[in-house]
Amino acid sequence: MVRRALVALTVAAVAACYNDSPEIGPGAVVTVRVSFGDSVVAVGDTTTFSAQGLDQSQAFVVGLQATWASDAPNVATVDPNTGLVTGVGLGDATISATIEGVTGSTAATVASQQIAVSDTNPTFTGVATDTGSDVQAVAITNAGPGTLTGLSVGTIQYGTGGSGWLTAILDSTTAPASVTLTAAPGTLLPATYTAIVPVLSSVAGNSPLNIDVTFVVIAPPSGPPGRLVVITEPAGATSNVAFTTQPVVEVQDAAGVRVFNAAIPVTASILTGNGTLVGTATVTPVNGHAVFTNLTIRGVQSGGDTLGFGAHEIEFTATATDPDTSGSFNVAVSFSYNVAYLFGLPAASCLACHSTFADPAVLVNQPPTLNTTGCGTLVVPSSSATSFLMQKMDNTHAGGCGAVMPTSGSMVQTLRDMVRSWIDEGAANN
Ligand code: HEC
Repeated sequence: MVRRALVALTVAAVAACYNDSPEIGPGAVVTVRVSFGDSVVAVGDTTTFSAQGLDQSQAFVVGLQATWASDAPNVATVDPNTGLVTGVGLGDATISATIEGVTGSTAATVASQQIAVSDTNPTFTGVATDTGSDVQAVAITNAGPGTLTGLSVGTIQYGTGGSGWLTAILDSTTAPASVTLTAAPGTLLPATYTAIVPVLSSVAGNSPLNIDVTFVVIAPPSGPPGRLVVITEPAGATSNVAFTTQPVVEVQDAAGVRVFNAAIPVTASILTGNGTLVGTATVTPVNGHAVFTNLTIRGVQSGGDTLGFGAHEIEFTATATDPDTSGSFNVAVSFSYNVAYLFGLPAASCLACHSTFADPAVLVNQPPTLNTTGCGTLVVPSSSATSFLMQKMDNTHAGGCGAVMPTSGSMVQTLRDMVRSWIDEGAANN
C-alpha cells in the first residue's frame, strides 16, 4: 500500500456538550479521533479505520464502541461495527465514527492503480552493421493503491526511418515487473530512431503508459576507402532494357569495413561481353553504397552492329581503391531491338520479302507460309536446332525446303547466333 502524501486529512472534532464541573477520571467523550490503515485504497481493496473517544482533557476514553458510516457508499462503504472500509468506486468519501453521540470523521480516497516506470525515455546506442544489441531493463511499479495486475506490452510504434529494431519482453503481469528492451541495429543506417512502447493494464488509471525509446545508431569506425565489393549482382538484363536487378557496390576500407562516409564516385564499365553500357555509369556512394539505377547494355544499332547480348561482366572502379568485377550475367536478346532490327538491315533484307517477320507472333510456333511442304515450325521456343527459321539461316534445312536465307547467302555467325540466342532464351516478344 502506498500512502499519498498529498491527501489532506481532515479530522473534525465536534463538541457535543460542555461541562465545566470538575470530574475525576475519564470524563465524557467530547472528541472522536478517527485514524486509518490506508487513506487511499483501490476499488475492491479494504482497510480498517479506527476511532478513539477523547475527553475534555484529551484523555482516551476506553472501552466504548464506535458506530461507523460513509457519506458516499458508491465510493467507499464501511462496516458499521468494525470500521472496515471497502473501495467501491473512484472518488472521496467521508468516513465517520460516532461514540456516545459524538462524531469524528476523516476522508477516504478510492483511487486506481497507476503504472510507473523507472525510465520513460531510455536511450540506446548501436553501431551500424553490428550484429550485437543494446539491452536495458525498465522497472514497472504501481504508483497507486492496490495491486497493479494485468500488465502487458502493446504493439511497438516506430517513428520514421526504421522499424523492427526493438523488442520488449515483460517478465510478469503483476507489478513490480520488469520490461527488457533490446535494440539491435540490423540493417539500420547511421541515424537516430524512435519508438514508443505502450505499457498496459486494465486496472490502471493511466494505461497505456508510453516508454519513449531513442536509438542512436552510429557508423562503425573505418579507415579510408580501400576497395570496392559488389554486394548486389546485376541480373535480369535484356538488350536495350535496364537490368531488372541493378548492381550495388560497397566501398570498404582495407580491412573490409564499410566506409559510410565515402564520397568517391564509382564507375561501371563493361569488362567482358559486347555492346555498349548506357545509363548512369558513375554513381556517388550514399552511406558507403553506390546504388546503380538504370544500367543498360545494348548494341549501338549503326553500321550493322546489333550486338550487346550474351555473357557479360561489369567492372567497378573508384579512385585509390581496388576495383571489383561482377559475376558473369546474361544479357538476353531483345526481339524488337535486336532481331527485328537485323531482319530489316540491308545485309539481311528479310523484311523486304517477309514483311510480316517483324512480329514474333507470325514466327513463334507457326508453320511456314511460303514452304508448306512440312518443312517444320518456324520458331520452336528454346529449341533453335528444330526451328525452321534457324535452319534456313544456317542453310541446314532439309532438301526440298527451298534455299538458304537470305537468298544472297548466310549472314556472319555472330548475327545468326543472335537469332539463335533469342530462340533459345524462349523466343519472347520482348
Ligand atoms: C529476296 C527475297 C527474300 C529475302 C531477302 C529473304 N527471303 Fe526468305 N524466302 C523467300 C522466298 C521466295 C521463300 C520461299 C522459298 C524458299 O523457302 O526458299 C522464302 C522462305 C523463307 C522461309 C521458309 C518459311 C516460309 O515461310 O516458307 C524462311 C524461314 C525464310 N524465308 C526466312 C528468311 C529470313 C530470316 C530472311 C532474312 C535473313 C529471308 N528469309 C530473306 C524470299 C526471301
